[in-house]
Amino acid sequence: MKRIGVFTSGGDAPGMNAAIRAVVRAGIYYDKEIIGIYRGYEGMIEGDFVPMDVRSVSNILQRGGTILKSARSTEFKTPEGRAKAYEQLKKHNIDGLIGIGGDGSFTGMHHLYKEHGIPYVCLPGTIDNDIPGTDYTIGFDTATNTAVEAIDKIRDTALSHNRLFFIEVMGRDSGYIAINAGIAGGAVSVIIPEEQTSIDELVKKLNEGGKHNKSSSLVIVAEGGKSGSAMEIAQKVKEKSSYFDTKVTILGHLQRGGAPTYFDRVLASKMGVAAVESLDEGKTDVMIGIVNNKMVYNKFEEIMTQPKYVHKDDLRIAKILSI
Ligand code: F6P
Repeated sequence: MKRIGVFTSGGDAPGMNAAIRAVVRAGIYYDKEIIGIYRGYEGMIEGDFVPMDVRSVSNILQRGGTILKSARSTEFKTPEGRAKAYEQLKKHNIDGLIGIGGDGSFTGMHHLYKEHGIPYVCLPGTIDNDIPGTDYTIGFDTATNTAVEAIDKIRDTALSHNRLFFIEVMGRDSGYIAINAGIAGGAVSVIIPEEQTSIDELVKKLNEGGKHNKSSSLVIVAEGGKSGSAMEIAQKVKEKSSYFDTKVTILGHLQRGGAPTYFDRVLASKMGVAAVESLDEGKTDVMIGIVNNKMVYNKFEEIMTQPKYVHKDDLRIAKILSI
């Protein structure tokens, strides 16, 4: 393999730049040509490519976002879109791909490989940590730290005014940020997409806190859950109990930005080097993961059939600590 294309796709995540840097540097180290593909699959379809050298990834290790930019492409979800992308890759003599993104990005690479035979290795890059086959995804640690920092600040004002806050964190289908930020931020309750939450139970719990002289409370809500948004849940709680002075804060895209933590930088760097080495050894149709501190290579069919749920034990721990 001589020419490898690298791209980022889906929602950006802190640490993607560290992964790009690792792919480019490892590629050059192993005597490959590395081509950057802008705007994920959108740029692949349009042939928006740029040759990358050692210096083109200088000073990006510590930066959030992605220098290659990212997109969610609807055209690439069609066989016609993927055929256009393949034509561009062929025209530019790209014979392998390394993509950094979430489950949608992995699925896209898998289809491209099945239909046109382009070998690829995927790196898990998403703040949601919802991809099976790895303990952590690139960006999750930074996003959760950002959420915890915001929760700590909200706690200060909640305490000063004896208020109940509902804080909505990201995680469309996944409660990883919510449960971990909830434990670290001392939440009274954590509402995650994977579980149905009873509003009556929640109100009961909040009332109990009041009886035990708890003057302020924080409830962490993962967006997109079965139980509704933070705004909707807060409204339902208000209807059942007027006792609380209730506020809602939505952290939103704040959680996607910022300098990656040391953990995400190291994770991205290790995975980036492993991606180049494994692709060169002939591995394909795999996503790299780190499980119990060991590099693993997950075949698409082996991991993408099951959703990755938060650890049940974490829910239990959060509950014990919130009395
Ligand atoms: O990348 C994951 C994520 O941040 C989810 O947590 C969130 O639901 C979604 O992306 C938001 O996507 P967009 O930025 O495209 O609105």
